[in-house]
Amino acid sequence: MFHREVYGLLHNVLSQVPKPFKFLDIACGDAVASAAALEGTSVDRYYGIDLSARSLQLASEALKALRCPVELRRCDFVNAMADWAAPVDVIWIGMSLHHLQPEGKARLIRDVHDALSRSGIFLIWEPTLLEAESRDEWLDRFSACRTAFAAVTDDEFSAMESHTRLADFPESAETWMAMGFQAGFRNSEQVFAMPNRLGRVFKYWS
Ligand SMILES: C[S@@+](CC[C@H](N)C(=O)[O-])C[C@H]1O[C@@H](n2cnc3c(N)ncnc32)[C@H](O)[C@@H]1O
Repeated sequence: MFHREVYGLLHNVLSQVPKPFKFLDIACGDAVASAAALEGTSVDRYYGIDLSARSLQLASEALKALRCPVELRRCDFVNAMADWAAPVDVIWIGMSLHHLQPEGKARLIRDVHDALSRSGIFLIWEPTLLEAESRDEWLDRFSACRTAFAAVTDDEFSAMESHTRLADFPESAETWMAMGFQAGFRNSEQVFAMPNRLGRVFKYWS
């Protein structure tokens, strides 16, 4: 999935944030990769949201490496962002926004925009359709990557495929960028494309 490359890039972006910043990790999972990306940056507060209690347990271990307060909330990120009140400077969502339908995605990005400080940055890493590609064609491209996932068994890959067919709703790069503008961000750019072309990282700011 190119976690190493994506979180390496996140580290580079976060290293360039000049002042102490508050970081919100939406759907943080076990936060192992985020904790590594934040090491050596000016982060002065970490918030993580996830539905999974087990993931949050692992996250609380991984985040001990950070020298700043850590707050983990077990809740649905849609509800959490609808009335988020704590000030934040950087918001990151990795491989999780695509579970929502288009109106839900747009709403979440609006809520993120409203939660950020004026100089805030929003970054997403999400499945992305190629130009003129349909969801079914994207799903078939995912299935065709089987041999690249050499470390997983057939059963594991089949579980990934079922999850993907049930719950993944990629958008085109154009749509991901447009959703940012519609939410109120003045700028957006694509900062990374996975070499297998399944997903991309976009950055939004005002
Ligand atoms: C594919 S993992 C991504 C984890 C991490 N962001 C990463 O980049 O490796 C998706 C995570 O989203 C969480 N999740 C899915 N839907 C959620 C929701 N509606 N609210 C909160 N967490 C959610 C899952 O529990 C899981 O930990």
